[in-house]
Amino acid sequence: MGPGPINADPRVLRAMSAQLVGQYDPAMTGYMTETMGLYRDVFRTGNEQTLLIDGTARAGIEAALVSLIQPGDRVLVPIFGRFGHLLREIAERVGAEVHVREVPWGTVFTPAAIEQAIIETRPTLLAIVHGDTSTTLAQPLDELGDICARHGVLFYTDATASLGGNTFEADAWGLDAVTAGLQKCLAGPSGSAPATFSARAVDVIDSRRSIEAGIREAGDAVLPNRIRSNYFDLAMLFDYWGPRRLNHHTEATTALYGARECARILVEEGMAEAVARHRLHGSAMLAGVHGLGLSVFGDPAHRMNNVVAVEIPDGVNGDAVRGTLLEDFGIEIGTSFGPLHGKVWRIGVMGYNARKDTVLTTLAALEQVLRRAGASVTGGGGVGAAWDLYADADRDAAASDDAAVLS
Ligand SMILES: Cc1ncc(COP(=O)(O)O)c(C=O)c1O
Repeated sequence: MGPGPINADPRVLRAMSAQLVGQYDPAMTGYMTETMGLYRDVFRTGNEQTLLIDGTARAGIEAALVSLIQPGDRVLVPIFGRFGHLLREIAERVGAEVHVREVPWGTVFTPAAIEQAIIETRPTLLAIVHGDTSTTLAQPLDELGDICARHGVLFYTDATASLGGNTFEADAWGLDAVTAGLQKCLAGPSGSAPATFSARAVDVIDSRRSIEAGIREAGDAVLPNRIRSNYFDLAMLFDYWGPRRLNHHTEATTALYGARECARILVEEGMAEAVARHRLHGSAMLAGVHGLGLSVFGDPAHRMNNVVAVEIPDGVNGDAVRGTLLEDFGIEIGTSFGPLHGKVWRIGVMGYNARKDTVLTTLAALEQVLRRAGASVTGGGGVGAAWDLYADADRDAAASDDAAVLS
């Protein structure tokens, strides 16, 4: 019950135990094409270039930034948590002239503040995290696409922590590039980074297409501004995943089986339904935490559905509480980074763990461990508040079923 990685869905684990298949086997190329289609549904996009990047979520970020940014390009990175710093770090390493804006952890940016920063810095790319796991907040993105389009700026987001558990609309929000990982709301292991790129982003990447010697064919240009990574060269990856099937790395078959199954599970459930499930169980956890008499960190209006930052009560040793939860109850909750280290725990309710039983058990265990640690908590208040919320949700669902039958 940490902020990810979390328990993988057993379906994903089973899929990952399947025998390996060579990357040009028609079954494998079929899986690749199918996986591209599945992730179009997950990202809510029509982008042709929707694919997997082999590696953890950070590999997706590196691939996007190294392929979209040319050395010297101006990039704007609004930072509201640890992973904004990661975007800045990677953009700097790929040679961008990076401009940052920061707000205090626990808050997010207004669209007006981002537009103002765009006017001031005139970037070619806006790179911003959607849900920053470190603070548990989600930056609203829905108005940023129009702002970027007005100013001729490419719009990239890292949706690793939020995708699958929070509303996400790549096309409707005007995103040009999105990358993610499997180990949060997608209910899989880390090791594969789903990503999608708009036609506008593809044009920028294609303008640097330089196929490596040895597989280059007549008509393939060799450009001086080629992408400065071979592994993360999206132009070559597009040719590998596309009809040309131009050789690149050896596909990480097992990771692909896992990523495909993660998307199949979500698409079968329905993206709106998956978000509603995360909202329900995340709200129950939040109600339970409040019911115990604990405080929650961060602007409540911008919380991600899938993770709650709980303030560690005064006098309580946060690491000792985490240790006891793990040792005696088999439940892992998260620590935190930077300015929040030692101040909050992060409790995740995501992917396969976004369930009533996990929420209620975690709240029951937390109450006992906190009581033993000498904290003053409301007896039964955690489970009781969460259970009440579930009962209300059941009643509302039954009432709307009745209304549907009557109409
Ligand atoms: C928002 C966000 N971005 C990027 C990452 C980096 O992911 P990975 O560790 O899979 O490379 C994480 C990891 O927790 C994350 O939460």
